[in-house]
Amino acid sequence: MPYYTKLGTIPSKRHIQFRRPDGRLYAEEVFGTEGFSGPTSTLYHIHPPTQVIGWKSLYSTKVQYLEREVMRMRHVKSMPMPTQGDAVTGREVLFGNNDVEISVCAPAETMKYHFKNAMADECFFIHFGSGTVFTMFGALKFGPKDYIVIPKGTIYQFVFDKPKSKGEPGPRFLLMESVNGSHILPPPRYLSKKTAQFLEHAPYCERDLRLPQMPMTFDKKGSFEVRIKSRDQVHSYQYSHHPLDVVGWDGCYYPYCFHIDDFSPIVGKHHMPPPTHQTFEAHNFVICSFCPRPLDFHPQAIVVPYNHSNLDSDEVLYYVEGNYKARKGIEVGSLSLHPQGIAHGPHPGTPEATIGATHTNELAVMCDTFAPLYPTKAALDFDDLEYPRSWEKGWDAEEPAPSAAAKKGKTTARASKSSKASAKTTAMTSAPKKSAKSNAANTW
Ligand SMILES: [Fe+2]
Repeated sequence: MPYYTKLGTIPSKRHIQFRRPDGRLYAEEVFGTEGFSGPTSTLYHIHPPTQVIGWKSLYSTKVQYLEREVMRMRHVKSMPMPTQGDAVTGREVLFGNNDVEISVCAPAETMKYHFKNAMADECFFIHFGSGTVFTMFGALKFGPKDYIVIPKGTIYQFVFDKPKSKGEPGPRFLLMESVNGSHILPPPRYLSKKTAQFLEHAPYCERDLRLPQMPMTFDKKGSFEVRIKSRDQVHSYQYSHHPLDVVGWDGCYYPYCFHIDDFSPIVGKHHMPPPTHQTFEAHNFVICSFCPRPLDFHPQAIVVPYNHSNLDSDEVLYYVEGNYKARKGIEVGSLSLHPQGIAHGPHPGTPEATIGATHTNELAVMCDTFAPLYPTKAALDFDDLEYPRSWEKGWDAEEPAPSAAAKKGKTTARASKSSKASAKTTAMTSAPKKSAKSNAANTW
């Protein structure tokens, strides 16, 4: 994590005597990255963290990818995927490669153990559900639309709250897991090179990050299972004490929450490119937040993204909420994959139909990778085969004729009469007129 913090009780210096109330020493653990030259935290345990009893391999986490040779647009509807397992065993990888795995999880059960991912940083996006993730660094309360970044090696347990009403959706989250050993961090360009402080142009800052809080220390003896993911296997280790027994820690390596509504979108006179939406990055992939915002304000602005070839990237968008009527087939919980190799952009008719739109209410999370992404069987099981065909009709067949005012360049970006007329005639007006004008599909 970018900045220094501390929680609980720690001694005045590193590596000195620090004693429990009964006079015995607390067990110091330096929790370091990159050979102790990267971000590090120092924790003080009631019991030595080395005291583990026995182990066994439980199951493989090696992901099998299919259709590795097929390059095409894909659309997976994740909401129909059934609830299963817990917050770890219920994860269903949909797309991935040697850098990142993108999965969806709708857990049916509570975790009855603690988990440590010793292979990867994990970035959760909670779509539905609230609760607490108890970690060795303290507790993080979370709710819908929170990112939770849990760095490699952190021991944790998810506890979801019971739904407050009958109609409330059960827990469901998106997970982007770094599998190349790199850490998921804020983009370096957001940070001061000298102090790692978030700079003024960054779309979020320290105040937006929610750090671990009490309770942190569970002083219990007994038999506790910690499942550790390493070498593409989950191992079961037994501890004779509660694994969350830290009384204090300090450093720059810890989990945290960040609510996507606290991302301050950067808007422009002309359409802003995807990097303005960037939230996190790791080696060979980035995570972006597309949030509700005012649209581009040039009088003749095209307010939806231009057609683009992101030549070095595959792009996955996860649709959280908003008006997706202009996106053929897309629903809340959909994931679209647009691969490098072919251009993508708005559906035919959309640029003309959205002239005059002033806001977008779409909320989506994007993961762009620098290597091709491959689908799993789970992705293919929920694959919408019609999606790639939704661009097949020629733009000239669907594009409405521009209005006279638009031809003369008199169209304004603020709901001109001509743009209203244009919206009426477009093939994309299955949405109510007002909605079509005020909200434009605006993710990339
Ligand atoms: Fe794109």
